[in-house]
Amino acid sequence: MTVEISNNYNELSIQVSEKIAGYINAMPGTLVCLAAGNTPLGAFRELVAMQERGEVDLSSVWYAGLDEWIGLGPGDVGSCAQVMNEALYKHISKERIRIFDGLDSDEEKQCRDMENWIKSHGGLGFTLLGIGMNGHIGFNEPGASDAEGCFLVDLDDITKSVSKKYFGKELPIAKGITIGWRTLFNAGNVVLMASGKEKAPIVKAALQGPVTPDIPATQFKKHNKLTVMLDKDAASLI
Ligand code: PGA
Repeated sequence: MTVEISNNYNELSIQVSEKIAGYINAMPGTLVCLAAGNTPLGAFRELVAMQERGEVDLSSVWYAGLDEWIGLGPGDVGSCAQVMNEALYKHISKERIRIFDGLDSDEEKQCRDMENWIKSHGGLGFTLLGIGMNGHIGFNEPGASDAEGCFLVDLDDITKSVSKKYFGKELPIAKGITIGWRTLFNAGNVVLMASGKEKAPIVKAALQGPVTPDIPATQFKKHNKLTVMLDKDAASLI
């Protein structure tokens, strides 16, 4: 595991975007999975700027969406699809991207389709992950299955209460759909990013505490190509 600490969120965003672009330029044709959430938005802004400057072609790789809130679709503010479309996917050829649809009630089929998409592209080459306040990764909540594949999950109470920040209001959302952490772990390269003082305690627990299913992020410490990228605030307790 390598830990890289940037002075502030802007610098972190630039560093992470350069890491992603470096991967894409070196490994065209492979599959990447980029987390939604607020933390990566600056890195996505930088990536789009890099594409506009001709420094990366974002349509030269394939994309697998990490997760989605059940009950929300691409037209809903704060859905993973809406956030990712706005921040990144609208700058990428549509056929390159597969995402979950939180409005499709056949979650089993969605899981199988995403698993087939991942398999048919030779597995994940690169994944960018955030970390939740409870240590979740995607919607791999505390106690998440370590089986390979994709899952419909009951959301943890912390995830439900934090979710307001995406929707601007409280929504009665209880479930999510996600790529399982074991499949993410099988990616050749994993970048885990965090920003801000409020993430400092969970970053400390994830990096310095024991590996435990109660904090899914700890599982990634065993990955031999894990880069943890933090700003100073998120790193302030380690
Ligand atoms: P955030 O979400 O980037 O909005 O903090 C991270 C997460 O919950 O995985």
